[in-house]
Order: sequence, then structure tokens, then C-alpha cells
Amino acid sequence: MELAGKSIVLGVTGGIAAYKAAELVRLLVKEGASVQVVMSEAATHFVGPVTFQALSGRPVFTDQWDSRVDNNMAHIDLSRAADALLVAPASADFLAKLANGLADDLLTTLVLARDCPLLVAPAMNRQMWDNPATRRNVASLRGDGVLIVGPGCGDQACGESGLGRMLEAAEILDEMVAHFQPKLLAGKRVLLTAGPTFEAIDPVRGITNLSTGKMGYAISRAAREAGAAVTLISGPVCLPCPVGVRRIAVTSALQMHAAVHAQVADNDIFIAVAAVADYRPAQFVEQKIKKGLRAAAPTIELQQNPDILGEIAALPEPPLCVGFAAESENLAEYAESKRRSKKIPLIVGNLIGDGFGGDQNTLILFDDDGQHPLPPAAKIDLARQLVVRIAMLLEKR
Ligand code: PMT
Repeated sequence: MELAGKSIVLGVTGGIAAYKAAELVRLLVKEGASVQVVMSEAATHFVGPVTFQALSGRPVFTDQWDSRVDNNMAHIDLSRAADALLVAPASADFLAKLANGLADDLLTTLVLARDCPLLVAPAMNRQMWDNPATRRNVASLRGDGVLIVGPGCGDQACGESGLGRMLEAAEILDEMVAHFQPKLLAGKRVLLTAGPTFEAIDPVRGITNLSTGKMGYAISRAAREAGAAVTLISGPVCLPCPVGVRRIAVTSALQMHAAVHAQVADNDIFIAVAAVADYRPAQFVEQKIKKGLRAAAPTIELQQNPDILGEIAALPEPPLCVGFAAESENLAEYAESKRRSKKIPLIVGNLIGDGFGGDQNTLILFDDDGQHPLPPAAKIDLARQLVVRIAMLLEKR
């Protein structure tokens, strides 16, 4: 459980996205957080307090003059008890009040009285989000240290489409979890590869492998949680891009090679998680190869792909390079030999069977200090442990 022991006050303001806040409460509680919901009066017109009470297991506060708090100072008591305040959805009106220090109801008052971090997830029509007044308010909130989560882009309840819709509940949950992670890579830039590559034979066939991208996506998320600006160059996978990560989609090893070279400048760290095809068909057959046209089974001549990690590690001023090695036997021997041949400070070994496809993995890190086994765990937990090791190596550089 990612939020065990955390107390979160969830503020809900008036907007149609208030219905998503109900799902958000469910997800926060599922991750172990205790959630106290505080609603603006306008929010109660969209979703009833009873819904939030049922999901959070606590009575909801809506009124500044609520007498349930002994000293009648709900705004102080509620904010003091919280590890973080989260307002989702945050309407344009709420952002304007917050930016100007106005406090005319329970939610705005307790937010003003806070002594803990504040995250807000804006939700409004795209023109309202684009309005210079809102832009000004958001900029000044950022300056005040408020973490603005989203908004997302897409269809809006009003029938328009654009930037302004509230992020999905799962994305806001990820942002909340990220908020509590140590910022070991603050200010750093991280470039990753993830997933398989697909080497086309003809318009419908190709050579690929069983990598799902889960490990690489988990590391992207962990690096971003640790405060890094993350660019993820991803082979073809079916995973959503982690919130706040910039993703560049590629298909073949040559495309991945070109994308890495185009992006690598100014990165502090390069992590090659992708299972890159070592070979591609020497020729792409323009039309679908037909079975009946040849007497013998066709042969496919292969040509070697460039070693992306090897090339990046050989740059005159390379970023800190981290490789992966998935092996079916002799893990230590093969992983160390890859580390030496590619001249990289750290390689992450995993035995095939553990690594490909699943949500869990078992890893061994190999660096100049020796071997560091990471026992079986969810890929996101392993990714966070890897980030700790990378941060240590970066500091030593
Ligand atoms: O995606 P998942 O399903 O979660 O699975 C994760 C994984 C098993 C794919 C991942 O953890 C992993 O081990 N990836 C590396 C697979 C591998 O053994 O690659 P390799 O031995 O071919 O390459 C060694 C290293 O060089 C890797 O860092 C690879 O990204 C890099 N490489 C390889 C070939 C190439 N042409 N260019 C490269 O950059």
C-alpha cells in the first residue's frame, strides 16, 4: 500500500469533475490513506456528501460553522491533522481565491491555514483555463509552492475539447504517491528506452520479443517521482505513459537509435531497459510474402542493429549509463561481461522467466562495488531501489 499511514484532506469544489473525486477517494483509501473530505457548497450540487462519507468512512465537512469540532475551528484542526491537502477538482473560482488569499468558506479557510503541502487538480472549460486571469493565478500559485496536477487534454463535459479536464483519478493518485517519494534526482534529466523493438519483414510480419515495457515504464515513473525530468523512448507496448513523463514512440531498433541520439544531449542519466533486436531483416519486402510463389521456404537475411547503449557510453561526455541484461543462465558472468564490453558503470541483471512480462521481478545490480541483489518485488518497488543506487553513483561521479 503506497499511502499507508498518510492522512489526506481532499477538498472538492464545484464542477462536473466532482464525480471523479468519488473514485479518487476510493483509490486513496485502497492505498492505505485516511481521507477527510471537505466540500465547497457548490460541490454539493454535483455529488452528495453521503457518497464521500460512504467511500471515506468519515463524515464530510461542508460548513465553516460546523460544530462537530470541539473548539469550533475546523479549518485549523483539519489542516493540522493532514500530511497533505489535495483539491480535486479545483475550479477556476477556487484557484482565483487561493491565488489571492481569499478565505470565505471552510475549504478556502483551511487551505489558507495549512502547514502541509498542497496539491490542486484544476478542472474547467478550456477557455477558462486559457483565460489570462487563470494563467496568472496558476503562475502565482506555482510560485507559492502549490503543486498543480494537470489538467489533461480531451473531451469536456460542455461538448468542447481541449486542455482543462481534470486528470483521471488514477493519475492524481500517482501524483500523490510521487509527492511522498524522496527527491533524489531533483533537477536531473533522465533518458530511457523501454519495451521491445519490431523489425519488419514485410507489411504484416516482423521480428520482435516478449518485452511488455513494464520494467522500463516503472523506472520512468520512479525517476520522475524522484524529481527528474524524464524522456521515455518506447518501443511498441500497450501501456499508458506515466504522468509527467515525455514519451516518444518508436517501432524499430533504428528508430530507437535515432531517437536516443536526438534526445541524449543534456541528459544526466541514460537507462537502456529496452529489449532491442540485435538483428533486423536486411531487406524489407514491400508486398506481403506469398506462400505459394516459392518452391522452398523463404530465408531471411539479417543485418546487425547498432548497439545504442554502447554508442551512448562511448560519447566523449556520456551521461551516467545504466544497462540491463536478461539472461537464461550464468547471469553474473554474462551481465558483468556486458557491463565491461559496453564500458558502463552499472548493469541490472534479471533471469529470463522473472523479467519478461510479469508485474514482479528479481534483480541483481552489478557495479564497481560488486553485486547488489534486489529480492523479488513489484517492478515499481525495484525501480525505486534502482533509482536510489543510480543517485548514489551520480553523486560519486
Ligand atoms: O519489458 P518487460 O516485460 O517488463 O521486461 C523487462 C526486460 C526483461 C526486457 C528488461 O528488464 C531487460 O532485461 N532488458 C534488457 C534485455 C537484454 O538482455 O538486452 P541485451 O542483452 O540485448 O542488451 C543489453 C543492453 O544493451 C540492454 O540495456 C539493451 O537495452 C542495450 N542494447 C542492446 C542491443 C542494442 N542494439 N542496443 C542496446 O542499447
